[in-house]
Amino acid sequence: MSCLGKYLKPLKLGSDAYIITNPMIKKLYGQKLETCLSKAGFNYKFKLIADSEKSKSLSTVYSVIEDLAAYDKKKKVFIIAFGGGVVGDLAGFIASIYKRGIAYVQVPTTLLAQVDSSIGGKTAVDLVRGKNLAGTFYQPKLVFSDTAMLKTLDSRQILSGLAEIIKYGIIKDPALFSYLEKNYKKILSRDSGQLESIISRSSSIKAKIVEADERDEKGIRIILNFGHTIGHAIEAAGAYKRHNHGEAVALGMLAACDIGIILGFTDKNTAKRLERLIIAVGLPIRIKKCAFTDIIKTHYFDKKFSGIKNRFILVEKIGRGRIEKNIPLAVIKTAVRNRLAV
Ligand SMILES: NC(=O)c1ccc[n+]([C@@H]2O[C@H](COP(=O)([O-])OP(=O)(O)OC[C@H]3O[C@@H](n4cnc5c(N)ncnc54)[C@H](O)[C@@H]3O)[C@@H](O)[C@H]2O)c1
Ligand SMILES: [Zn+2]
Repeated sequence: MSCLGKYLKPLKLGSDAYIITNPMIKKLYGQKLETCLSKAGFNYKFKLIADSEKSKSLSTVYSVIEDLAAYDKKKKVFIIAFGGGVVGDLAGFIASIYKRGIAYVQVPTTLLAQVDSSIGGKTAVDLVRGKNLAGTFYQPKLVFSDTAMLKTLDSRQILSGLAEIIKYGIIKDPALFSYLEKNYKKILSRDSGQLESIISRSSSIKAKIVEADERDEKGIRIILNFGHTIGHAIEAAGAYKRHNHGEAVALGMLAACDIGIILGFTDKNTAKRLERLIIAVGLPIRIKKCAFTDIIKTHYFDKKFSGIKNRFILVEKIGRGRIEKNIPLAVIKTAVRNRLAV
């Protein structure tokens, strides 16, 4: 963290940093950030939001943005999103609408945020009718990830990020996938060298995909949704309590492989390697305590559906994802049924 100021200064984003974070992250790492900002000559203010997905709401936007405007009176202010994906999505959204857009930087503190949510410029808050329904595309000026902060993360959170990293390997990078197979024990023990290596590899895979299709319009960025169609349905069917995002994505990736095998697109050995890695790291391979009918009903809400036609991301083999349209419902049902705990 000591070098954040060094990276911020040349960007000339302003003199005053408005830091959006939650009480826990401030307690753990706030002092470090303060020291580093003051050393580099920045003024700053912390704005705390509740540590919950519920903070991704328009009512939080309202209270934060009024406070930001008060702080901004005579200064040139920029925002620092200091936290996991919740803080990042909210802070990015606020940065994109305040004065029609001010500069912001992401300092992600969870593995998921470091490899996924801080990169790509999708910002959002949730509405009553669904997650991430109000949002913008708005790129941060800098993403600054420090693996030292991952030491305090609980292990379920580490696995959540790891599921996304496995996803990058399987859709784009066979060498990353093999690296995970060989080094998962060191990664789980939070060896900083190993973490740095997989975080920088994953971030550049995501950044490259986003560069090619920033607004998710060209059918390129959508590949990042591998495992997410069934994954989101599993999360929602379990009322966001039974399986967290990473667990649901792991299950969704396995279901997508099952679909690919039934349709003859997916190499069986790829599916076996994926399942072995998922078991090895401690992610689930069976859906627990979710009603089959709820999963099927919910998967229709996936954003990849246009009308009644579905689009699925499948894999041919490790490192090669592909997009398929109109997967028969019977095949989806079989794949989901195969994954239910007996
Ligand atoms: N914008 C995108 O492209 C994108 C992509 C994926 C996910 N998301 C969003 O990200 C959110 C999930 O993000 P998340 O998994 O980071 O969850 P989160 O932000 O809720 O963080 C998880 C928990 O970890 C704690 N925490 C954060 N850093 C810590 C640290 N260093 N040590 C100890 N505890 C720490 C947080 O306080 C929180 O309790 C969801 O809202 C999701 O919609 C956005
Ligand atoms: Zn995800």
